[in-house]
Amino acid sequence: MIVVEDVHKHFGGIRAVDGASLTIKTGSITGLIGPNGAGKTTLFNVIAGLHKPTSGRVLLDGEDITGLTPHELFAQGLLRTFQIAHEFSTLTVRENLMMVPGNQSGESLISTWTNPKKVRAEEEAIRAKANDVIEFLEIPQVADEFAGNLSGGQKKLLELGRTMMVDAKIVFLDEVGAGVNRTLLNTIGDAILRLNQERGYTFCMIEHDMEFISRLCDPVICMAEGKVLAQGTAEDVKNNEEVIEAYLGTGLKNKPKSTKPKTKPKAKSATKPRAKKSGGKSK
Ligand SMILES: Nc1ncnc2c1ncn2[C@@H]1O[C@H](COP(=O)(O)OP(=O)(O)OP(=O)(O)O)[C@@H](O)[C@H]1O
Ligand SMILES: [Mg+2]
Repeated sequence: MIVVEDVHKHFGGIRAVDGASLTIKTGSITGLIGPNGAGKTTLFNVIAGLHKPTSGRVLLDGEDITGLTPHELFAQGLLRTFQIAHEFSTLTVRENLMMVPGNQSGESLISTWTNPKKVRAEEEAIRAKANDVIEFLEIPQVADEFAGNLSGGQKKLLELGRTMMVDAKIVFLDEVGAGVNRTLLNTIGDAILRLNQERGYTFCMIEHDMEFISRLCDPVICMAEGKVLAQGTAEDVKNNEEVIEAYLGTGLKNKPKSTKPKTKPKAKSATKPRAKKSGGKSK
């Protein structure tokens, strides 16, 4: 379980995260939503060790992990993917997957001379794991394709596959559905659900697509202006008044004090003056 306790992350005068507290339960698929600039990615970066928080704590199973580097967190099975997929474009999909596990003996030139058998056995094990991932994600047709030639959605699927190459406990997905067509989005959604149900992965995912969120996530947490605004089922959060207001752009700071209903100016179509004819003289 991850517990985020009153985390602040300020960039100069900008309070990107401004006192956020939340819990990501082990075994859940937790959704993180909120309008642009709400601080979602910054909070992910704090949890995943890319940013040190200005203040506050992050606990993993009761242990303080605040300020650990991404490598140290990776060793504990905590991973994140990036809002923009980071693939090696001139390697194939299979090779990209095989790049993930660190400390391979073959990475050291000396061991390729002194212990070639061990290097080969290790490479075979990693290849077998990569093939398992390819099969699980049902992407054999692109296994030998250069990653640079994949569509945006296929790159996201590869990103998900890369998390499967190590025994990840918790995976953070930042806008895995952004720019992905509906069919591929469903494939990604299915893979996430199966990883959660069949392999016990915990997910925390930032997403803007509410249909996708509703299908996968429980609970859903909504952030706005660096704070947690609401938490509950997708349905609860969707119907939460403060959430609706934050999305409409009114913002918390500008929340109207009066309860007077807003009236829309009436359309004047009936009395609308006709557009003036161009006054330009013809030659
Ligand atoms: N490195 C940085 N330096 C300065 N300001 C930053 C930095 N990173 C983020 N911010 C600011 O912090 C605020 C929160 O940004 P963040 O990227 O966390 O929002 P977000 O919720 O992920 O938005 P989106 O949905 O658009 O991805 C924004 O005002 C952003 O401009
Ligand atoms: Mg973001």
